[in-house]
Amino acid sequence: AKALPRVTYSNIGADFAPLHDWLDEALPGFRKSMLGQAWPNVMAGRHDVSGRAYEVRCPFERDLVVARLVSADRKAVAAAVRAGRDAFPVWSGMGWKTRVKILRKWAKEIERRKYELGMAALYEVGKSRLEAVGEAEEAIHLVNWYCDEMERSKGFSQPMQRAHVDEETTCLLKPVGVFAVISPFNFPVALACNMLGAALVAGNTAVFKPSPQSGLTSALLMETVEAAGIPSGVINLINGSEAGPLLVDAEGVDGVAFTGTHQTGMRIYRKLASSAYARPVICEMGGKNPAYVTATADLDMAVEGLIRSAFGLQGEKCSSCSVVYVDETVKEDLLGRLKAQAQAIIVGNPEDRRTFMGPLIDEAAVERYQKVAKAARLKGRIIHGGERLPGPLFNKGHFVAPMVVAELPPDHWINKDELILPVLSVVAVGSLAEGVALGNRNVYGLCAGLYSGSPKEIETFLGLAEAGVLYVNRRTGATTGAWPGEQTFCGWKGSGIDGKGGFGPFTIPRYMREQSLTIM
Ligand code: ALA
Repeated sequence: AKALPRVTYSNIGADFAPLHDWLDEALPGFRKSMLGQAWPNVMAGRHDVSGRAYEVRCPFERDLVVARLVSADRKAVAAAVRAGRDAFPVWSGMGWKTRVKILRKWAKEIERRKYELGMAALYEVGKSRLEAVGEAEEAIHLVNWYCDEMERSKGFSQPMQRAHVDEETTCLLKPVGVFAVISPFNFPVALACNMLGAALVAGNTAVFKPSPQSGLTSALLMETVEAAGIPSGVINLINGSEAGPLLVDAEGVDGVAFTGTHQTGMRIYRKLASSAYARPVICEMGGKNPAYVTATADLDMAVEGLIRSAFGLQGEKCSSCSVVYVDETVKEDLLGRLKAQAQAIIVGNPEDRRTFMGPLIDEAAVERYQKVAKAARLKGRIIHGGERLPGPLFNKGHFVAPMVVAELPPDHWINKDELILPVLSVVAVGSLAEGVALGNRNVYGLCAGLYSGSPKEIETFLGLAEAGVLYVNRRTGATTGAWPGEQTFCGWKGSGIDGKGGFGPFTIPRYMREQSLTIM
């Protein structure tokens, strides 16, 4: 497997045939040997299988059990937090250089098992092969990126001016304590590693609560934690839908890192703000990411970037593009091209190398998709898609067609709400400024993209767009594909609390607190 091509979200032109050939062989074995097993919660290295049992089902084959897990109850959550507290003095006390060494071993361990992690994501999230392997690759880069950052910042400590010759002051950042790390289904490996990597390199310990829809990836990730020699109690794993609220409420949690919906993120933020004192809350809360296509745009490039961004991972990325504001003079041309490209998308079983779009995560997502289609028919025009995919090929999973919609009023909820669905709405505008003003009215501000051949328009976009991550003329994804070390991921407004989830040069300090030490 060593010589296989690496996958990032944007090296789309690479020759992946050797990887596909390898996966053709590996997937049946993985399916047979890894799926359907029972996995424990882990506190202080202790494997705990008590609690209500539940199953993670495969979204493209609903009778296939991917993993059996147990739901952590109040007692289990308390034990996990206690384990984090007990491990904190050791982990924070060993110094950042030692932590970096151990975390680099973790990155190596993830690298060693990246195809298993990718295959687990394929079966539990329904990711296409390249999306699945790409996110395991991203996880390795994330952990290494935080190690690099810690080294670049020399552990965030610097000498201050002296008031007296015999007085020495150092200003430094210290870890906070135990972080609750609550991760979503859509990037179960990468986003978990994003939050855990930053929390841990800073010296915090963690209680890790993955999405109940992605238990296998987290179980495997926990094995990499153990194999890398991260001391027991530094990461504690608790599963189940009840565990999240219990964890946020638990005594002894010093900070929360969360990635998920705006509503839940804001609830956590308010909750922690109402306790005795404010604690760090780092929330990544989704997006409603617009793209702008002007009359000067290269439409081939725009369509390729829009299709990848709107329909990659079935539109279930926080960065997915979901509204495109297009100059009215090129609208029909763009719609025609989008329709042709959407028709050509291969939806299907992600075990197959040809699949670009896998299934939606669950039945609730299909129902939301159907609700969008009904509303779109009523107030606009569906250019492509809008139906659950029928027939024997699809009846075992949550499959839908990519949906392109036009002529909805700009303020229609489909153009405003985060959908986490493969839906792209096309809105005609008279100018780029008008489009950007509409895009900026949205409560979210994660990513935005522009397709234009005019330097003046590019300047307008970069100056006015209210979003943390801006892309211009990106063929590989209008608004998607941020990669550690290449972009930072820093949502504005309703997309992030405290600069959002991160992987930028300013991320680690959010997991730390400042202290001034003066010694006479
Ligand atoms: N890193 C992922 C993207 O930007 C979330 O699409």
